[in-house]
Amino acid sequence: MATRNRQWRLKRHPDPGEMMNRDLVAWGEGHIEEVPRGGILVRTHCLATSPAQFGYMKPGPGLFEKIHIGDVIRARGIGQVMESRTPDFSVGDIVTGSLGWQDYTCLHPESAGQSIKTVQKEPHAISPLHVTLGTLGVDGYTAYCELINVAKPKKGDTLLVTAAAGGIGSLVGQVGRILGCCVIGIAGTDEKCAWICDDLGFDAAINYKTEDIDVRLAQLAPQGIDVFFDNVGGEIMNTALAHIALHARVIICGWISTDYKEGPIPGPSNYTHLLLKRASMIGTIVWDHIEDWPDASRHLRQWVKDGVLIPTEDITEGLENAPDALASLFTGGNRGNKIIRVAPDPEGLGIL
Ligand SMILES: NC(=O)c1ccc[n+]([C@@H]2O[C@H](COP(=O)([O-])OP(=O)(O)OC[C@H]3O[C@@H](n4cnc5c(N)ncnc54)[C@H](OP(=O)(O)O)[C@@H]3O)[C@@H](O)[C@H]2O)c1
Repeated sequence: MATRNRQWRLKRHPDPGEMMNRDLVAWGEGHIEEVPRGGILVRTHCLATSPAQFGYMKPGPGLFEKIHIGDVIRARGIGQVMESRTPDFSVGDIVTGSLGWQDYTCLHPESAGQSIKTVQKEPHAISPLHVTLGTLGVDGYTAYCELINVAKPKKGDTLLVTAAAGGIGSLVGQVGRILGCCVIGIAGTDEKCAWICDDLGFDAAINYKTEDIDVRLAQLAPQGIDVFFDNVGGEIMNTALAHIALHARVIICGWISTDYKEGPIPGPSNYTHLLLKRASMIGTIVWDHIEDWPDASRHLRQWVKDGVLIPTEDITEGLENAPDALASLFTGGNRGNKIIRVAPDPEGLGIL
């Protein structure tokens, strides 16, 4: 049994305007906790990244619990049960949930430590585990549930997706394409624009760093955008609002372009188009749709099996590189769903 537990802990809160960087976290080794009765010990295999993790490092109010100085950085992950003192889990089970930037997580039955309720068994886990965690996990559920349940796209609709070459965006665009939408993506490099069109089947792409989004949207969507799935907020969102179609649905999934801005974020001046086009704009969180996750899981799995949904995981090797992996989301250094591989997949898993 291993005794080393490598960990990243929060060293200090970010200063105002400071970007995610290694100086915020401290690398070290902790002990592996003794598993209490009713608890389990999980070996981490892969960790997901999300811009929200950086938000947890900032002090002040937030939707989810903050990470305090000295805490292990919280992260959703996939791992294998190494020790179990509860009949609910067996050694060898694959689980997903809140594991953190560490090799081993001890999950407790009650609030004395990290709760076992934050993880769930993954009886259909397949190798590679990073696909089970990402495309077939919460990122896939976000794309599927927020697009299908909330935006309700119809065949022939024009769908606009921002951060289109990112984790959520690359899946939203593909789901839209599978449903028969005409999909336009906005991304930050020509290489990403080519990737989403050539490999993922988007109909068109706009490089927001080199092209005039206003001009390009007028060319690409002369009848307007029926569904606008926004991951970035700010100026890009405001520009796109001026191009919505009658009865458009605008999904606020995230606002990464304003994550580092201090003070109040200016409202979108083009909000008037919501009235002119009798459109709706709605914020939604993947956790609002938990009851639909099994349905999402079934469809995503089938689509991947049929080869129509391409998993988009972008792997960073090694727990030691976790801070750089998270930082890459804010610099556009990722292409697809950024996952940190902490340990090779265990043997004996099913394959798709
Ligand atoms: N509502 C929910 O339930 C939910 C759940 C998970 C995530 N989210 C949100 O969904 C969004 C995507 O998350 P993700 O984990 O999939 O991250 P991601 O899209 O894989 O990574 C973020 C991407 O945003 C782009 N970006 C960064 N700064 C930007 C800027 N200033 N302007 C425009 N684009 C910028 C970068 O790509 P470029 O190279 O194209 O700039 C980067 O790759 C985030 O806003 C996140 O907070 C929401």
